[in-house]
Amino acid sequence: MGRMTGKVALISGIARGQGRSHAITLAEQGADIIGFDICEDIPTNDYPLATLDDLRETIRLVEKTGRRIIAEKADARDRAAIGILLTDAMARFEHLDVVVANAGICPLGAGKPVSAFTDAVDVDLLGVINTVHAALPHLTPGGSVIITGSVAGILSGNGPSHGPQGPGGAGYSLSKRFLIDYTNTLALQLAPTKTRANAVHPTNCDTPLLHNAPMYHTFRPDLEAPTAEDALSGFQSMQAMPIPWVDPGDISNAVLFLASDESRYITGHHLTVDAGATTKRGL
Ligand SMILES: NC(=O)c1ccc[n+]([C@@H]2O[C@H](COP(=O)([O-])OP(=O)(O)OC[C@H]3O[C@@H](n4cnc5c(N)ncnc54)[C@H](O)[C@@H]3O)[C@@H](O)[C@H]2O)c1
Repeated sequence: MGRMTGKVALISGIARGQGRSHAITLAEQGADIIGFDICEDIPTNDYPLATLDDLRETIRLVEKTGRRIIAEKADARDRAAIGILLTDAMARFEHLDVVVANAGICPLGAGKPVSAFTDAVDVDLLGVINTVHAALPHLTPGGSVIITGSVAGILSGNGPSHGPQGPGGAGYSLSKRFLIDYTNTLALQLAPTKTRANAVHPTNCDTPLLHNAPMYHTFRPDLEAPTAEDALSGFQSMQAMPIPWVDPGDISNAVLFLASDESRYITGHHLTVDAGATTKRGL
């Protein structure tokens, strides 16, 4: 018996990065997987998002575990599309036990238009809410909602739109900050059916959202075209432990715990996977 035997999990942003890692981890523990990913770029976001080939690779890797997967191209900003995917998937899988609202963008960069701010909020806040709200009518009582926040939401004040992070960075931080309150309030709404809502808050994680030119520039604004190596000491200074980032699998282990019945009475909880980044700042 795996820790997820008999369960079905919905994961957004499943084509690569943390979403792919969550899918494989939950499937290895016996879950069947439903997922979606935008599989196209968003113009204000300067690094490429996942592709259909990435999505196919996630499907291949989940099927390799022996579990079933239904995964399609869909945009978290389109609640109706998520609803259609879920209705179709329910015809085959019959129930839904876990929602991992993971998809996100980080359109950093100074001098961007205000649409970088609205894109970040539309994907990182509204996209999460769409994913959860489309899933709730299908979610089994006693199920688990897991929201991917960020250490950025715990540490940030009102993100300045004039610094190297720009309006997209402000939208990212605002979204992650609002998700803390959203998770807490949702947890109270779901508690009567013993359904849970929790959040994981990663620090720097080794995915394309971290490894891109605008992000390197945020950590080294003194350089015109910093490399990963240039940004390394900045990345490392975030955490108390001497590491620049965590691996997607580190986040997946937290997601697995919150998805499984081992955490059945844990709700409204904020699980930082941050190598001491928040503790270092007295939080
Ligand atoms: N990587 C980090 O350093 C870090 C740190 C803290 C929090 N996070 C959060 O972790 C989550 C996962 O990001 P990641 O690190 O795996 O990055 P990633 O870029 O590798 O993965 C994000 C995935 O979401 C998909 N996506 C983006 N917009 C979408 C949309 N509108 N609809 C559907 N899918 C969409 C992308 O195509 C991609 O596959 C995000 O919510 C991110 O904010 C990341």
